Amino acid sequence: MKIDGRKIALELEKPLKADINKLNDQGITPHLAVILVGKDKSSINYVRQKLKIGRKLKIKIRLYRYNLTLTPEVLINLVNSLNKDKKVHGIIVQRPVTIQIPSDAINNAVYPEKDVDGFHPDSCFDPPVALAVNEILRFIYKVKLSGKNKTETADYSGWLKKKKILLIGRGETAGKPIAKYFNKIGIRFTMAHSQSRNIKKLSRISDIVIPCVGKPNIVRHDMLKKSAAIIGVGLHPENDKLKPDYNQAEMEKSAGFYTPVPGGVGPVNVVMLMRNTVLAAKKTVNFDF
Ligand SMILES: NC(=O)c1ccc[n+]([C@@H]2O[C@H](COP(=O)([O-])OP(=O)(O)OC[C@H]3O[C@@H](n4cnc5c(N)ncnc54)[C@H](OP(=O)(O)O)[C@@H]3O)[C@@H](O)[C@H]2O)c1
Repeated sequence: MKIDGRKIALELEKPLKADINKLNDQGITPHLAVILVGKDKSSINYVRQKLKIGRKLKIKIRLYRYNLTLTPEVLINLVNSLNKDKKVHGIIVQRPVTIQIPSDAINNAVYPEKDVDGFHPDSCFDPPVALAVNEILRFIYKVKLSGKNKTETADYSGWLKKKKILLIGRGETAGKPIAKYFNKIGIRFTMAHSQSRNIKKLSRISDIVIPCVGKPNIVRHDMLKKSAAIIGVGLHPENDKLKPDYNQAEMEKSAGFYTPVPGGVGPVNVVMLMRNTVLAAKKTVNFDF
């Protein structure tokens, strides 16, 4: 079954809109500052999606765009001034940041209470990409529950805890934040990476496979057990289009569930970022949760 991430995202927007209206009633517009450095095509594409959804939800998004002559000092100064700006609720620095600056310097620059991307070690927010994977897993659970004898699954968390999960990739913007989130919510998983020699074997015994690499054919049709779910986080460009870490036609035939590109994890990720921004705005006022 192909998972429609756009449909999941639309459902998740509904409670957000209600919160945004309540904030508007108090004279507050959630405000996200997005810093984009360079001309990386995928980054421009991601930022465009964020602007589009922000506009639709009436979240103010201010884009700060720089070319590669930007110095680390100017970048950090900008983040510092946004940290101090009371009207700004969330700040993201779009990754990859294509200038020479240690990733820790950026991760630590944004105040935890404004770090809606969840990169700061003490961030007040869970990473949107991990929240998106969780929402997609929740969707699979609901589909399974609706079609099954109802005794199998008592609750979502209990269901997930029984699954064998394989996370492929331990990188900064995908594998690592998802692993951190799974650890936080008590979900066991196996993590593989470029040095793992047994990915095929691990994949074949997994109920859920989450490739977070950004290269073609990381997971092939013969690496999935019947009815397994594959959630494609990693993306790479092919003929000017973004593709997941697997061939979608293969997964259509072999996976129980799979996310497509476009229209899979991406739209859910963007809504989760918006949800964190709204949450950041709610925390600044006396909001009736
Ligand atoms: N869909 C979304 O919303 C979304 C959000 C965030 C990121 N992404 C995408 O996710 C991908 C990963 O991002 P990232 O920042 O985490 O990248 P990264 O830091 O470059 O990490 C890539 C990871 O893949 C592993 N890897 C490389 N080749 C492999 C192979 N042949 N087999 C198994 N593992 C392999 C690497 O292993 P080592 O650690 O051993 O080097 C590394 O852990 C990118 O394509 C990015 O665009 C998508």
